[in-house]
Amino acid sequence: MKKVLIISTSLRNNSNSEILAKRFMDGATINNEVELISLKQKKINFCIGCLSCSNTHTCVIKDDTNEIVDKMEAADVIVWASPVYYYGMSGVMKTMIDRANPLYSRGYNFKEVYLLATATEDEAYTFDGIKKGIECWIDCLEGVTLKGMVFVGGVEKPKDILDNKKLEDAYLMGKNI
Ligand SMILES: Cc1cc2nc3c(=O)[nH]c(=O)nc-3n(C[C@H](O)[C@H](O)[C@H](O)COP(=O)(O)O)c2cc1C
Repeated sequence: MKKVLIISTSLRNNSNSEILAKRFMDGATINNEVELISLKQKKINFCIGCLSCSNTHTCVIKDDTNEIVDKMEAADVIVWASPVYYYGMSGVMKTMIDRANPLYSRGYNFKEVYLLATATEDEAYTFDGIKKGIECWIDCLEGVTLKGMVFVGGVEKPKDILDNKKLEDAYLMGKNI
């Protein structure tokens, strides 16, 4: 049984990427301990780049990210869910990644990362940027690999994803963690 932390980074209601994340969760919950955290209504400030965390293993800014970083540290698997914004990850997902910088010096359990993303377009290149973004984060984390991704294009408005066949891909990916 693995400890799975799903971080949902769309801030809108009935979010496509969160629906995708919940389907992943349905599969993952069968054999694992799973928690989904939405960044909606969380207080998340930007990283100020002081790098105090290199020495103190904690962030000088006190807001809702501190508890999330603790949960990231304890997880075996981290799953990010994000809308594509200007061909990259959502701004709040990037900020959350920056604010998780204390984990470098503190250490972390997780070895596996998954990425779930949605976008209006469905071109061959639509998800290149967000994929690159998560790969760059993982490249900085020793021993961590990108285990799987589900990208769903062609979904624009909230709930557009509801009858999409790729929800099943997310379910199976979660189930096979
Ligand atoms: C600021 C912003 C930028 C976006 N940029 C893109 C983009 O570059 N490519 C694309 O296909 N869709 C883009 N979209 C559309 C969203 O990716 C799409 O609506 C997605 O399904 C939203 O997921 P969510 O419901 O989980 O928030 C953008 C939306 C917003 C609000």
